[in-house]
Amino acid sequence: MSMTPEQEASRRRTFAIISHPDAGKTTLTENLLLSGGAIHLAGTVRARGERRRTTSDWMKIEQQRGISVSASVMTFEYEDCVFNLLDTPGHEDFSEDTYRTLTAADSAVMVLDAAKGIEPQTLKLFEVCRLRDIPIITFINKMDREAQDPFALLDEIEQKLALNVAPLYWPQGSGERFRGMRDLRTGEFVVYKKKTADENAVSHDIERVGANAVSSVLDDGELAELDEQAEMAQGVCAEYDKQAYLEGHLTPVIFGSALRHFGVRELLDALHGEAPPPRAQKAEVKGEPTEITLDRKEVTGFVFKIQANMDPNHRDRIAFFRMCSGQFKRGMRLKTSAGKAIGIPAPVMFLAQDRGLAEEAYAGDVIGIPNHGALRVGDGLSESGNVQFRGIPNFAPEILRRARPKDPMKAKHLRKALEGLAEEGVTQLFVPAIGSDMIVGAVGQLQIEVMAERVASENNLEVVFEQSMWNVARWLSSKDPAKLKAFVDSNQGSVGTDLDGDPVYLAKSAWDVGYTEEKNPDIRFARTKER
Ligand code: G4P
Repeated sequence: MSMTPEQEASRRRTFAIISHPDAGKTTLTENLLLSGGAIHLAGTVRARGERRRTTSDWMKIEQQRGISVSASVMTFEYEDCVFNLLDTPGHEDFSEDTYRTLTAADSAVMVLDAAKGIEPQTLKLFEVCRLRDIPIITFINKMDREAQDPFALLDEIEQKLALNVAPLYWPQGSGERFRGMRDLRTGEFVVYKKKTADENAVSHDIERVGANAVSSVLDDGELAELDEQAEMAQGVCAEYDKQAYLEGHLTPVIFGSALRHFGVRELLDALHGEAPPPRAQKAEVKGEPTEITLDRKEVTGFVFKIQANMDPNHRDRIAFFRMCSGQFKRGMRLKTSAGKAIGIPAPVMFLAQDRGLAEEAYAGDVIGIPNHGALRVGDGLSESGNVQFRGIPNFAPEILRRARPKDPMKAKHLRKALEGLAEEGVTQLFVPAIGSDMIVGAVGQLQIEVMAERVASENNLEVVFEQSMWNVARWLSSKDPAKLKAFVDSNQGSVGTDLDGDPVYLAKSAWDVGYTEEKNPDIRFARTKER
């Protein structure tokens, strides 16, 4: 029997993994895809060593730095659910990109290194999830290595994140003495068997022994320790409460070893059983605040990321479109809220590393829309053209640089290239009201390097980024358009426009902004701009 679009949507689980670099996000991603049957050999997500291929020129930077710069989405089925895993870039310079990716996720998995606990980047990403009340499942990874005491780890999560913790499992030992974990809800014991990293042993053969048979896999001392600790954990930790998890007040905790394929199946089961289907999204319909829910008939959704050069043979851009309602069919035409119609004859679905044509998609799904600059991050698309989504911000850049071409004849060329990157949301481009400078803004130094690399390889243009006379940018607005205009007119030396032509205040320092703000109470100086 075929399902209704609403039923299809409610079996979607769209989630992201957040972690500090090196906690094991890539390894866990690989193993989730393996367990979900989406790939058949570990190592596909990130081929190691020599096998690692360049999929586009600018990925050279990824390779040199050993970090994952690009975000992508991977879809796989497990049991009766469709999982859309949004991969978030790990490096802190890409927090803006990560932030936007999280706007498209309905839940998150937080991966911690069992030896390190909460690290700085974990904390930052968690804050983003909290802002949006995204429910989080915690996966404490690397239990096959010497770990911190699990009580200390849980206490740290509770203290640093102000979040109740409810362990679903309790581990026995760690490192050489790691034996597995008890399912606190059933009393069963999931047995850890040491496997080599490259052994293609998917979690299907994970052994679970019944509550009464744990003594067959643990010695007396271990069993006594497990009994005592598990009892204590149940006494001191919160009991798992689905509602509290969905509201973002409580995190269920699973222990495991991504590298050794342990705990991954349990994580998938938790996502399957507990993680929420697509959430209602805040939007405006014909200017009226509205929640877009799964029962809405028309196709709606928003673009949360633009990526260029995914395939070096096609110089296309892919807009990642997160569906929020309706049934999308290949060939549909959707409209932006500005009334621009976009034909979508060749949408892309992301099945692990393969790209295939999407015949249909439902709320929660992410499809790639190839385009040549027509779509921008934050654009809402719908059949009626009446829906605009809220809450996808542009961050105030922390670094401003003046860009100039090495060859002065190529200024126009360079502007076009920088506009393209700004459209993708990689960086910002500001044009001061006076003069012909191009000021680029980025959240971190690495973005500037990515930009230079891409301008060079995609446009055959050498660009120099120099110290700019400005260090801070703020978006200007006012309830009174006349006052805004007057401010802009009388501050021509320190205003400019962004890619959309919206006014921006350019200042030497935050102090400077504060001073001007005080003098102009009717003008708002915003760090971010919401589209
Ligand atoms: P990231 O994406 O969060 O940055 O982490 P990634 O998966 O790349 O893992 C970082 C390192 O931690 C890798 O080792 C990886 O093999 C290791 N690792 C991940 N999960 C586990 C685990 O459960 N147990 C153990 N013992 N190690 C784990 P590497 O030496 O940096 O890389 P590689 O040479 O293995 O590729």
